[in-house]
Amino acid sequence: MAKILVTGGAGYIGSHTVLALLNKGHQVVVVDNLFNASYESLVRVQKLANKSLTFAEVDIRDKAALSQVFAQESVDAVIHFAGLKAVGESVQKPLAYYQNNVEGTLTLVEVMKQHQCYHLVFSSSATVYGEANQPPYIETQPLGNPTSPYGKTKAMVEQILMDVAASDQRFKITNLRYFNPIGADISGDIGEDPNGIPNNLMPFVAQVAVGKREKLAIFGDDYPTKDGTCLRDYIHVSDLAQGHVDALNWLFNQQEGCCEAFNLGTGDPLSVLDIVRGFEQYSEQKIAFEIAPRRSGDLPAFWADSDKARSQLQWTPVKTLQDMMVDTWRWQSKNPNGY
Ligand code: NAD
Ligand code: WQD
Repeated sequence: MAKILVTGGAGYIGSHTVLALLNKGHQVVVVDNLFNASYESLVRVQKLANKSLTFAEVDIRDKAALSQVFAQESVDAVIHFAGLKAVGESVQKPLAYYQNNVEGTLTLVEVMKQHQCYHLVFSSSATVYGEANQPPYIETQPLGNPTSPYGKTKAMVEQILMDVAASDQRFKITNLRYFNPIGADISGDIGEDPNGIPNNLMPFVAQVAVGKREKLAIFGDDYPTKDGTCLRDYIHVSDLAQGHVDALNWLFNQQEGCCEAFNLGTGDPLSVLDIVRGFEQYSEQKIAFEIAPRRSGDLPAFWADSDKARSQLQWTPVKTLQDMMVDTWRWQSKNPNGY
């Protein structure tokens, strides 16, 4: 078993991944500045796993503080979630996004090098495929030119990590391209807890169900899709978390330096209306909605070709649409105000 440092480990995907790591018997050191998370998520993760972890409230851009964590812990690998993720906000505040996501990663990799830690799993996104590539997205397609500064930071970091791996054969890196993570741990004790009005579909639907929002605005029903609403590849966060455990195993088995991209999606496209109807069916809650104009920047349809992750990482997503809906509702109804 290994000691894994998880940046952003108190956040939505990070907390589920930390739980999966602890359940596998790994030791975990979380580094998070709690900018978009609460320490309570980690209290609950430790309770669920019945194991403890080490927590450092550190900003990854603080090189001295980060270096101190590496000096105290003998870290075998890093999973790097820390960053800002709101697409719309990134258009308003591009510098904050480049500083957090790009500069933060540069600092992290420099510190890893100083401490001879060479295994890295990076949180990338399907957004790196940009607008020009046709779905299903496959890793052999070139990096696109994402429209938002957020998306650009992900494509830039992937590029930087490829250059780092090419320059130093000791580095073994995976760029995991997440599609649309939704759902929550089956316990209903950890889940997605956005600040303010949710930008993403699933937390918005869940907040309508719990009475915090009046109705959902569906952004456009005139797309060239089966029901006119956009198609996405929704992936259960616990399957996504397992993808990180599998990516780590893969990295530990590599003989040579590498930097490989893997799509983490199911490969099954679902429409916005599929999600609304699915949630209503499996949670037995009515979701009020109206059709609103298209949201700027939305692509009509994208989903993953997930064969590479399935065959090389031996990753198998197992959760169904029903699991995604039931688990989202369990988390939201048990924790109407989040953590
Ligand atoms: P999140 O906001 O819940 O988690 C990110 C965590 O990083 C938070 O706990 C936050 O406090 C921390 N953080 C931010 N900046 C930091 C810094 N400078 N130093 C230390 N900690 C910092 O987001 P999430 O949904 O769990 O996403 C995790 C990662 O996955 C992000 O990099 C995101 O871009 C990427 N991603 C997310 C999605 C998605 O839909 N949720 C999709 C694709 C990729
Ligand atoms: C899904 C669908 C909306 C909210 C974003 C990022 C992507 C990745 C995942 C980080 C779309 C529709 C949404 C609402 C709606 N994140 N919608 N009403 O835009 O596919 O992806 O999150 O990397 O990079 O771009 O996800 O959940 O915002 O939207 O109708 O109130 O739901 O138009 O069709 P998206 P989303």
